[in-house]
Amino acid sequence: MAETKAQETGIFSRREFLRWGFWAATALATAEIGGAMLVFFWPKLKAGAFGGEVNIGTLDEILGQLPVNAVPLYFRDARFYLSHIEDGLLAMYRKCPHLGCVVPWNFEEDQFHCPCHSSLYNRKGEVLGGPAPRPLDLMAIEIRGSEIWVNTGEITQRSAYDPSQATSV
Ligand code: FES
Repeated sequence: MAETKAQETGIFSRREFLRWGFWAATALATAEIGGAMLVFFWPKLKAGAFGGEVNIGTLDEILGQLPVNAVPLYFRDARFYLSHIEDGLLAMYRKCPHLGCVVPWNFEEDQFHCPCHSSLYNRKGEVLGGPAPRPLDLMAIEIRGSEIWVNTGEITQRSAYDPSQATSV
């Protein structure tokens, strides 16, 4: 088959240039949207760091982003998810109780889905499937005035969900 002049010389043809330009623009737009979503889903801590008490903001700020049964907020730096269920707020450690992988929220499945051995958890951290031996572990939540504090240095195991685990708001 005869080669075009562009192929012979190794120079992009106009069509190839446009195709690459299209994919580059698409990749850039995807990266920008992804970056915006990460900022949205990874709220910043107001004070503190993992291993101690962290201030995640005021009740108004948090509840404004997290209505009941919304996708849990991921506080990446403090290593927990904040879930708002009918009984109140739960702060759940991101570490899988099976073998310790980081458990991400799966947006398509609307549940936590551990990538290592497919343990599944709902918004309460209850095990829905897979080898996990117990629900996601909890961190204590305390509301001081209008500010929400989570103690990331005190991680509690549980055998089942109980409404008393949630902090009412
Ligand atoms: S570490 Fe999560 S299922 Fe095994």
